[in-house]
Parts: sequence; C-alpha cells; structure tokens
Amino acid sequence: MVEGRLSGVVLAGGTGSRLYPLTKVTNKHLLPVGGYPMIYYPIAKLVAAGITDVLVVTGLEHMGDVVNLLGSGRDWGARFTYRVQDEPGGIAQALALAEAFAGGGSTVVLLGDNIFEADITPFVDGFRAQPAGARLLLKSVNDPQRFGVAEVRDGRIVGIEEKPARPRSDLCVTGIYMYDARVFEFIRDLQPSARGELEISDVNNRYIAEESLHYDILPGWWTDAGTIASLQLANRLALELPAGGMPAGRTPAGVRA
Ligand code: G1P
Repeated sequence: MVEGRLSGVVLAGGTGSRLYPLTKVTNKHLLPVGGYPMIYYPIAKLVAAGITDVLVVTGLEHMGDVVNLLGSGRDWGARFTYRVQDEPGGIAQALALAEAFAGGGSTVVLLGDNIFEADITPFVDGFRAQPAGARLLLKSVNDPQRFGVAEVRDGRIVGIEEKPARPRSDLCVTGIYMYDARVFEFIRDLQPSARGELEISDVNNRYIAEESLHYDILPGWWTDAGTIASLQLANRLALELPAGGMPAGRTPAGVRA
C-alpha cells in the first residue's frame, strides 16, 4: 500500500502564451470554461475523489486573483494552500514546490488546464492499493505529438517521450498524475530539457526505470485547454457535464445551485 497522507496539487502556472492575448491580463486558469473558471474543474475532481487538502501553485502576477476566486476552500469542504512559482520552469519545477505541503506523503497532481469527464476515484483507489511508485492516466488521442506519449508493451509503460515528432503510440499522458514521496528526490536530480524546463516526462521515466510506474486508461472525454482550439472544445464539452462539472450536492460560493 502507498503509505501516508494523500493530498492534491493543482498546477496553474505558466504564461498561457498559446492563448495570448486572452492571457495578457489574466491567468489561463481563470478563463471561462463552460459555466465556470477553468481552475474549478480540476479542484472539483479532487474534491469528488475525497481529496480535500489541496495546494494550488501559480505565478506571482495573478496569485491575488486566484486566491480571491478560491479562498480558503471552506465552501468546497476543502482546505486550500497556495505557493508561488517565481518563474515558469516546467511542471516538475512547479511540483517541487509541493514537497513540504505533501509532508512525506503522496500526491495526486492535476494540471489546471485539463478538463475531463470521468470521476478519478477508482484510479486514486488503485494508486492507494499499489505498493509504491506512481500511476498515470493515459488517453488515446488524434494528435499525440502535442503531448507526452507513452509506449506500452505487455501491459506496462516502457517509455515516455515528450512531444515526439514521430509518436510511438497514440496514448497521450494526461495531466493527471499520482506520485509517492520519492517524486521530490527524482525532481532534484533533473536537468532542464532543450526547452529549458524540468520535464514531468523525465520524472515519469525515472519511475519506469524502477518498474514502479502503473497506469490506467482514462474513460470518457478528456482535453487540455491550452490552445484556442482545445479551449473551444473544453467549453463545449464542459457544458455537457452533470451539474456543470461541479461536485454533486455542494454549492461552493459562486457555484450556481
Ligand atoms: C504537459 C506535459 C505533457 C502532457 C500534457 C497534458 O504539456 O508536458 O507531457 O501530455 O501537459 O496536458 P503542456 O501542456 O505543458 O504542453
């Protein structure tokens, strides 16, 4: 069994350059998707899975707006903590900021621009039941070269390539990651990639080397919302979610009943 406390991390940094000028004066994760700000969706997924200690990581410039929007978490039946990412340096760099918050326990990490249909509870339960390591959710997509791509052989992930020109499969690594506490050691060992970032794919490859990377295929629809086309798709799909995608039976402040 994966030991210790399990907390949530929502990564909501970055410059949102692919959405400019929508992101000139605000953070990508505050843009509207369906009936709510984008960042409500990953938070709703964590809360629905019973993960109520949640760290939100974002840049300095729009941290005030993010805190104003989300508050303490009381209205969600949750506790929100915030950390500033001083400059964009990759998903793994942002995740490193969660080490003290995780307190030696494990984390469920969601990218703040991932919008999807499924309840993650069964996959979180699967992660809790595994002896150690990490767990990813993969999804078959039409444009794998835009993502981290997993090569699967005999039911195991044997390699992950970040944005490959010639993908070895159509299985995208979604921005839904579960890690034991060793993730922070692995991040400390990373070197920046060609694009100058600490890559989450390099972290996942460390778990592969240790044969402790597990996966599930995410059912239902999934999209990121980091480009104009995918933001538009996310908007259309989010409107179809039951209760608009918010936790059933709860009406956090600003969430319509
Ligand atoms: C990031 C990750 C990539 C992953 C994707 C999921 O890409 O680097 O591996 O497949 O999120 O949304 P980015 O959105 O930063 O280009």
